[in-house]
Amino acid sequence: MSASRLSLRRLEGESLDAADAARLRWLVEMDARCFGRPWTAAQWASEVANPRAWVWVAERGRRRVGYANLWALDETWELQRIAVDPALRGQGHGRDLLVDLLVRAAREGARACVLEVASRNSAAQSLYAGLGFEKVGRRPDYYSDPPDDAEIWRLEPIG
Ligand SMILES: CC(C)(COP(=O)(O)OP(=O)(O)OC[C@H]1O[C@@H](n2cnc3c(N)ncnc32)[C@H](O)[C@@H]1OP(=O)(O)O)[C@@H](O)C(=O)NCCC(=O)NCCS
Repeated sequence: MSASRLSLRRLEGESLDAADAARLRWLVEMDARCFGRPWTAAQWASEVANPRAWVWVAERGRRRVGYANLWALDETWELQRIAVDPALRGQGHGRDLLVDLLVRAAREGARACVLEVASRNSAAQSLYAGLGFEKVGRRPDYYSDPPDDAEIWRLEPIG
């Protein structure tokens, strides 16, 4: 895994400066565009305030490109969310963002990463498979909007 050309900004703490508050507003709007069941602004604020949550916004120059949220849980971290602006997909940004975060997580002691993904989400599955994640389980009827099974994918070791 090698690092990318994106610059990543972590949103953390109870009070954000003006630039990070603007990034968080963008993230909340983007989440509503990217997911059928978006998290509310209050949920995202709670994530940002949680020291176990790694909430990052990726930028290319001045353009916000995507975001992700990883939970730091001992040696096995969980990818909660990752998305790229729909207008900027298919250009390698999702891959670059996830690689950057996994490199950083490994430096912090993460040895494995797990995630849940809808069984029909082939774009996300391609991203994960390309980085070496493997399907390790399935939760039938896990999602309701739209209805779908969840697949559990795991990467171990990271790197
Ligand atoms: C999943 C997502 C983050 C991928 O971001 P992206 O910037 O478009 O992905 P990339 O351009 O970096 O592509 C990564 C890999 O996935 C593949 N891929 C991307 N979009 C694809 C698609 N629609 N169909 C099939 N493969 C696709 C690419 O070919 C690439 O494979 P490679 O590494 O072997 O070349 C993006 O589609 C997204 O935001 N989806 C909505 C939110 C979502 O579903 N998040 C995941 C929840 S588990």
